[in-house]
Amino acid sequence: EKSMASLIMIFGATGDLAKRKLFPSLYRLFEKGRLTKQFAVIGVARRSLSNEEFQQSVKDSVLTALKKDENIDEFISHFSYHSHDVADSNSYAALKNLADQIDDHYSLKGNRIFYLAMAPEFFGPIALHLKSDGLTDVKGYKRLVIEKPFGHDLESAKELNKQIRTAFSESEVYRIDHYLGKEMVRNIEVIRFANAIFEPLWNNRYISNIQITSSETLGVEERGRYYESSGALRDMLQNHMMQMVALLAMEPPIKLTTDEIRSEKVRVFRALRTVEGEQVKDYFVRGQYGEGTIEDEQVPKYRDEPMVEKDSNTETFVAGKIMIDNFRWAGVPFYIRTGKRMTRKSTKIVVQFKDIPMNLYYQTEKMLNPNLLVIHIQPEEGITLHLNAKKAGGHLDAQEVKLSFANTGIHAMNTPEGYEKLLYDCMRGDATNFTHWDEVAYSWNFVDKISEVWQKTKAADSFPNYQSGTMGPKAADELLEKDGYFWWPVT
Ligand code: BG6
Repeated sequence: EKSMASLIMIFGATGDLAKRKLFPSLYRLFEKGRLTKQFAVIGVARRSLSNEEFQQSVKDSVLTALKKDENIDEFISHFSYHSHDVADSNSYAALKNLADQIDDHYSLKGNRIFYLAMAPEFFGPIALHLKSDGLTDVKGYKRLVIEKPFGHDLESAKELNKQIRTAFSESEVYRIDHYLGKEMVRNIEVIRFANAIFEPLWNNRYISNIQITSSETLGVEERGRYYESSGALRDMLQNHMMQMVALLAMEPPIKLTTDEIRSEKVRVFRALRTVEGEQVKDYFVRGQYGEGTIEDEQVPKYRDEPMVEKDSNTETFVAGKIMIDNFRWAGVPFYIRTGKRMTRKSTKIVVQFKDIPMNLYYQTEKMLNPNLLVIHIQPEEGITLHLNAKKAGGHLDAQEVKLSFANTGIHAMNTPEGYEKLLYDCMRGDATNFTHWDEVAYSWNFVDKISEVWQKTKAADSFPNYQSGTMGPKAADELLEKDGYFWWPVT
């Protein structure tokens, strides 16, 4: 068992992410005994706060998120606060002093985790200061944890990476994609590689297409400023959707080590068919929500949200066909769609198998259904296998039956569990479920070619093109129809 002793510095400790996800996640690890006595947290932010005030805010956020606070006083006693100016070396020097004292007090062996829970424009400057002001000279390990967006396109991502890499090596950088903290996303690999009945079929001979849907009911909320320069393509596709594609498409790794798994994922990215220029409209569809009703509530159109342009060209929905031009996947479309203000909050993967060679059980009213493997990522977690079997009592008619496995673990939407796993991984030094720079770069390269075209050919005249509370614009259905498929309405 590797030493878990670590000092975690959370930059942006008064922000939303820290309060909603990080403190509650740390508390859960503490509760489960996964944080030994050898841990401490320094909250770093601009605001001036006393340790007590900060500890109180940690306490409040745990209670709000988890509705419980057993042993909370012991938990928060491990938290200190440092009021910080990100541009001032003196401030870093003071932080270093504090860190050294705390390190001694808790015997943290010089292990440091720097978690940057703040706007990405600070990632580079902070990393540079951490190095120049000596915070990265440590006796133990040092790790940098950052959240997306990792750049705005390939160029800016490269620039950011260059700055970060002056202070941290690639193996010390933990780039969070919170979808990789989700239980069923992690399960994709196990379902594929631990089952004799799937892996032999997992290729273009038996699979006709794969559909990944991640729909949200929320609108852009208070994030208009960020979202206007991002859109669904950068916000969801470049990272979360592409990661799911990679996990579904990768070859079996030689071993379950970080390097082996990451390198198989990178090979998927390398095999992505480039879609550019004129082709973009054949492969990708964009949408923007209009007004509508969601769960009986009337909601405004995107263009009426705070900090959004009245004639915004930003897409709040994207659907696409992704082709992986390698031996296993040649000819098999991976259809993805994601958007805000859709019918329901749900993430699902549907693997559609090819039809059997000949249907003996033809029913006049209905064709035989193909076999489907559905992986339910959220809100419910599980797998469903759609098969055909004889209709009870009937003649030789086939009907669809479903074999279901529901992951009955504690579950509620938007719980901090994903972050809990990722934080724990980071302390253990397991970077498998974080994105390697190569994955980020290939993924931007793919996405940039689409956004270039969307920048040039504005869709503003046709926006909004889907009503809130629906599954997106009609064109997203046509994308599959022209290939002879449709989105499976699995619930
Ligand atoms: C984030 C996006 O990365 O993922 C948000 O920035 C989005 O816009 C969120 O709402 C969705 O995550 P989840 O876990 O709720 O599916």
